[in-house]
Amino acid sequence: MSQVLLFTGKGGVGKTTLAAATAASLAANGRKALVVSTDPAHSLGDALDVRLGPSPSEVDSADGLFACQIDPRGLVDEAWGELRGHLRTVLAGAGVDELDAEELTVLPGVEDLLALTEVRRLATTGPWEVVVVDCGPTAETLRLLALPEAFAGYLERLFPTHRRVVRGLLAGVAGTGTVEKWDATADALSRLAERLDALRSMLVDPASCSVRLVLTPERVVAAETRRTLTALALQGVRVDGVVANRLVPSPGDASGDAAAWLRTRRQEQDAVLAELSGIGEIRTVDHRASEPVGVPALLEVAAQLYGDEEPLPDAAGAAGSLLEVSGGGRGLDARYSLRIALPLADDAEPDLARVGDELALTVDGRRRLIALPSLLKRCIVTGAEMDSGGVTVGFRPDPSLWR
Ligand SMILES: Nc1ncnc2c1ncn2[C@@H]1O[C@H](COP(=O)(O)OP(=O)(O)OP(=O)(O)O)[C@@H](O)[C@H]1O
Ligand SMILES: [Mg+2]
Repeated sequence: MSQVLLFTGKGGVGKTTLAAATAASLAANGRKALVVSTDPAHSLGDALDVRLGPSPSEVDSADGLFACQIDPRGLVDEAWGELRGHLRTVLAGAGVDELDAEELTVLPGVEDLLALTEVRRLATTGPWEVVVVDCGPTAETLRLLALPEAFAGYLERLFPTHRRVVRGLLAGVAGTGTVEKWDATADALSRLAERLDALRSMLVDPASCSVRLVLTPERVVAAETRRTLTALALQGVRVDGVVANRLVPSPGDASGDAAAWLRTRRQEQDAVLAELSGIGEIRTVDHRASEPVGVPALLEVAAQLYGDEEPLPDAAGAAGSLLEVSGGGRGLDARYSLRIALPLADDAEPDLARVGDELALTVDGRRRLIALPSLLKRCIVTGAEMDSGGVTVGFRPDPSLWR
């Protein structure tokens, strides 16, 4: 399995440029690298200054660098198109109104999702050490990262695990032909569900997959960046770095209008970076006079971004886990605390609820169900405290469950 690096951030901040620069730099250091775009608005080819197709090809100007742009539309036609047709027939056969059937077979986000399953396929079957992914804008990507779970729920609703019940039902109302179609459809759906499960596992495995968040240092960005980091952490996705792109040069002691403009601009940008400093190290890239297009220019960007370091995620960072239990004591006097590591914005209002053996943590409308470790299942929540690095939940043994 290749190491997968996903570049994301708001529209136009430089995702494509930095993904391409990172991959070019990896290849220049002798790594077998593939850079893939899943963004339907393909600009990866423009950044690399080459024509790209849906399957990986070597970039002429860079040894060992491969690139491709996934065509989500084509994948949809291939994987979902036929399935959709079957589904509609089956649903209509089962007495579901034609219009409802239409509605049920429109799947939100299916394009993005299939593009990511294609990334996973390339990462698991290809010869690459690293697969760098140029994703769409943040909001989209977040939604997309949550999709495999949402999708599994959707399939579950639409096609209950009790397939045989549905099958029997169909046999009653429609002929054997429909039942056969149902079998084929149900098989195709379980294969799709398996692919999505595998995708989910890849996305939340910090050792093989991580996200790099790209931003430009502007006032509105700071709060939003924290929110994005929270949402990704809630989804169990590792963020291994934040890059601030397009930092204007400092004019030094120069005088004149242009220098004054630059000075003000740079001070504002530095203020935003200072505000963000709590989230950890932020790498920066200057706003260059000309657009970094083509491998040589991209390598210059990478040199500034990574210096002498390799642009690979820090192996040690993968160990930091979302959950940690500490505490102890004797019998009913024991006290435990569960630390949920989450970068939280100052105005964040996390909501915590115990639901059976799970904790439901909601921040900014995004919810994560956290399965409690078995020790804590037998405990009562005593309180919760929040700081900018996360939430700490206190527990004590539940006398009725503890002996
Ligand atoms: N550091 C930089 N200095 C100068 N120009 C830059 C820099 N980074 C990116 N650009 C230019 O800014 C434009 C937008 O960059 P890019 O396409 O990488 O952003 P993006 O986040 O992928 O955008 P989109 O959301 O549209 O996909 C491009 O023309 C690119 O060449
Ligand atoms: Mg782009």
